[in-house]
Amino acid sequence: MMIKKYVYGSPFETEAVVVNMEAAEGIPAYGAISTEDGFSFTCKLDAEDVVYGLGEANRGINKRGYCYVSDCTDDPNHTEGKRSLYGAHNFIVVSGAQTFGLFLDYPAKMTFDIGYTRMDTLKITCDHADLYLYVIEGATPYEIVKQFRKIIGRSYIPPKFAFGFGQSRWGYRTKEDYREVADGYRENHIPVDMIYMDIDYMQDYKDFTLNEENFADFPEFLKEMKGRNIRLIPIIDAGVKIEKGYDIYEEGVQNRYFCQKEDGSDFVAAVWPGYTHFPDVLNPEARKWFGDKYQILTDQGIEGFWNDMNEPAIFYTPEGVQEAGETVKEFVENANGEHSGFFKVKDKVLGLSNNEKDYRSFYHQIGEQRVRHDRVHNLFGYNMTRAAGEAFDRIDPDRRFLMFSRSSYIGMHRYGGIWTGDNMSWWSHILLNLKMMPSLNMCGFLYTGADLGGFGADTTRDLVLRWLALGIFTPLMRNHSALGTRVQECFRFEDVEDFRHVVGVRYQLLPYLYSEYMKAALSDDMYFRPLAFVYPEDSHASQVEDQLMLGDEIMIAPVYTQNAKGRYVYLPEEMKFVKFLPDGSVYEEILLAGHHYVEIALNEVPLFIRQGRCIPLAAPAEYMEALDTEHLMVIGYPGSEYVLYEDDGIHKDYDAPENLRTLKFE
Ligand code: GLC
Repeated sequence: MMIKKYVYGSPFETEAVVVNMEAAEGIPAYGAISTEDGFSFTCKLDAEDVVYGLGEANRGINKRGYCYVSDCTDDPNHTEGKRSLYGAHNFIVVSGAQTFGLFLDYPAKMTFDIGYTRMDTLKITCDHADLYLYVIEGATPYEIVKQFRKIIGRSYIPPKFAFGFGQSRWGYRTKEDYREVADGYRENHIPVDMIYMDIDYMQDYKDFTLNEENFADFPEFLKEMKGRNIRLIPIIDAGVKIEKGYDIYEEGVQNRYFCQKEDGSDFVAAVWPGYTHFPDVLNPEARKWFGDKYQILTDQGIEGFWNDMNEPAIFYTPEGVQEAGETVKEFVENANGEHSGFFKVKDKVLGLSNNEKDYRSFYHQIGEQRVRHDRVHNLFGYNMTRAAGEAFDRIDPDRRFLMFSRSSYIGMHRYGGIWTGDNMSWWSHILLNLKMMPSLNMCGFLYTGADLGGFGADTTRDLVLRWLALGIFTPLMRNHSALGTRVQECFRFEDVEDFRHVVGVRYQLLPYLYSEYMKAALSDDMYFRPLAFVYPEDSHASQVEDQLMLGDEIMIAPVYTQNAKGRYVYLPEEMKFVKFLPDGSVYEEILLAGHHYVEIALNEVPLFIRQGRCIPLAAPAEYMEALDTEHLMVIGYPGSEYVLYEDDGIHKDYDAPENLRTLKFE
């Protein structure tokens, strides 16, 4: 293995890496290290170098030209200027004059200045020289990624139903709301497998409770939905409501399972339930306690969850409010027409949320060690999800559960997937969604996807359709939107047959998508790859930021421009251009290597099959259990073969030889 591990200071054990490695002697190649004032790694970038990685991060597949900060943040405005999103994935690969990979296992804030301060310089910095640095060598960036993936352990594998389509919206409250969504899909014959339960299913936003009025006899309701082949997937938030008599609050206080302030009192932060305490998921005992609570819902028939607000998000703290109040008071008493006081008030009030001072004021108890939160900030979402993942193994070790999280760190990819948080109903966010996918795969996160149609802001029919035409390829395929925005369930728009068709193509492709997901997961490989990983000799491939390779057979190139009738596409080799037409037929045309303009109507789904390959295709189905995987069609190049992976989608018998079968396209 061409991986060297360097140790600086006393690193925190994040358990991101699962392979035991001896520390290397000497100093790493490729860059200059300084441990004088914090830590820094600096190296020159050649004009042609490309930098990959950083998982869930803003901007391009090639990360050059900007500054990114690993600092898990609840920020719903993913505009171009943002440096931090919800995850912290400190893995990059430099490709070019020198080709090497770096993983910086460091759980606090870390800055990646990738040609931002100077276009020819990469500089990685953090405040404390306590970290593991892994330097990874390989002939190509793809080889480096594969090596890295070997040391961080196998990616999470969800149950097969989780590859179906899911509908979500913040604001569903009652059984009637859920029935309306189920009816909307089933009556219009638009496929769906899951409906997500956002925070309003809970009683006063208390984790692991159900609204007493709306969800009397919950197991019965789950059965009713399951009878329609729909699973309900509830959200779990990080903060536990402070409320006398609420058992989880009481147990947490009694056993000292919540994060504490320096004076030993439980830290208080406001989130959806109002004031809450944070379970200390970095403390193994508290983690086990919190994880076991998921069983309250699995016992009633729940088979999957999404973990939210686990950066952890803080709306405000009592201390912050106190301080802001004083600033406001001072402004009111001394207002003299000068604007400086006003801006001070504005900054103070807006700065109440996710304030660094608050993150410095609570602690984690890990064995004998007391660690201040800001030193391990990026591990909270990881360990909340790990709490659930470890609990699922106790609840039913043979069964797979659906689990994905908002916040994450490398290592969490073993316990769950992620969704990319609060995007907007913007065309640019289709492209951002696409660009993040291969970067996340590099870091082990395979079960991922974005809120299709856009979470914030009002969507439009064409945006939802175009976004779905990308989403049908992402392992996690979910339409989700924010309270107060325009409704965007597929059946809300005119000409529903277009939605029936586009979502239907997902199910037709499912045998292939599931098979490629499983192969990627079982061999520590990528499901989505940048074109340059597949065509390293093609000098144009690394320029392509709006197409992806999916598995070994296909390339995708969705339309992401409003009012466009098609798009330009680059083919590194001859391929078969395939369009799923709304009448159910498949259009096929061989296109030679090079640039092409392809027409793609709003109700068509395009993909490209690589030369000499083929893919299986199922008949349309409205839910997973109705999918016939016995009788598959094959499309692509005649004379080719495809090795299909298939299992029961429920259990963990991944290595059974009968899981593989060869399909021939005569
Ligand atoms: C956060 C989540 C979003 C959810 C909302 C209410 O903003 O990211 O998905 O709908 O909280 O729970």
